[in-house]
Amino acid sequence: MNNDMGYILRLWASLVAQTALDLAALSTEHSQYKDWWWKVQIGKCYYRLGLYREAEKQFKSALKQQEMVDTFLYLAKVYISLDQPLTALNLFKQGLDKFPGEVTLLCGIARIYEEMNNISSATEYYKEVLKQDNTHVEAIACIGSNHFYTDQPEVALRFYRRLLQMGVYNCQLFNNLGLCCFYAQQYDMTLTSFERALSLAENEEEVADVWYNLGHVAVGTGDTNLAHQCFRLALVSNNQHAEAYNNLAVLEMRRGHVEQAKALLQTASSLAPHMYEPHFNFATISDKIGDLQRSYAAAKKSEAAFPDHVDTQHLIKQLEQHFAML
Ligand SMILES: *[C@@H]1O[C@H](CO)[C@@H](O)[C@H](O)[C@H]1NC(C)=O
Repeated sequence: MNNDMGYILRLWASLVAQTALDLAALSTEHSQYKDWWWKVQIGKCYYRLGLYREAEKQFKSALKQQEMVDTFLYLAKVYISLDQPLTALNLFKQGLDKFPGEVTLLCGIARIYEEMNNISSATEYYKEVLKQDNTHVEAIACIGSNHFYTDQPEVALRFYRRLLQMGVYNCQLFNNLGLCCFYAQQYDMTLTSFERALSLAENEEEVADVWYNLGHVAVGTGDTNLAHQCFRLALVSNNQHAEAYNNLAVLEMRRGHVEQAKALLQTASSLAPHMYEPHFNFATISDKIGDLQRSYAAAKKSEAAFPDHVDTQHLIKQLEQHFAML
């Protein structure tokens, strides 16, 4: 039912684009193909129709006549759709040379770096964004979480509070705020933040994420029974939550429930093969119970997911030395 609806809407959009395309082509003819504005319009139509190479030609030609911020943005969108993030990146930088400090271009660069998992470069560009516009929600949120993950929760807290002052008021913000408060040792604020996050949750996935963070707080306070319950509750709300399976496995491991832990880790790694933790934990358990072949295979998967993980490298080396002695 919903699918049918989507199909009709898309078809309609593409019909409108086709008509606009005819119109625009007609007008360009009359202005002897010199009007950059019409080229941008045609480019947009091509883009809507999914004709990215045609769109690229139009935007490039328009940029030759007249450099405009919007045209840079459209052309970059084409490259992103063509899965050429590096070309888009260079284009944004070219645009910045022409329009220094332009927020939309800076943001475009930051998003690509974020997508490429290059958080340090993304943060640099988001900082530039904040210099121009200190109310930019996306930039504040990204810089805040970067401070959190580089072990500066009290700095992250400042950024999240700033979002609150600006009137951002949702589950995700309070969920982040709760964890930040905990790690910044502002315990009075921790639980109220999580309570508010739960009350603002709009779907089961958000509820799961709050229970997941609460599980971390419980682990941090050493209450493993509570942590166990929190991670279980996260899975009740979202049974695809790979991180919760992984953390639950670690708790089961500590209780000596090897088979349960292994089953949980297998679920985690099948849900999120890109995560190194389930592979590494599986390798560690297998090593402990003397299943060295499986341990080695899992450690290799962990290495593929996170080549610089020191403990994985250590385990692999140890296993290889062992195999060499056989
Ligand atoms: C991030 O990007 C910058 C600039 O392109 C590069 O110098 C740096 O090595 C990258 N860092 C990572 C972690 O990929």
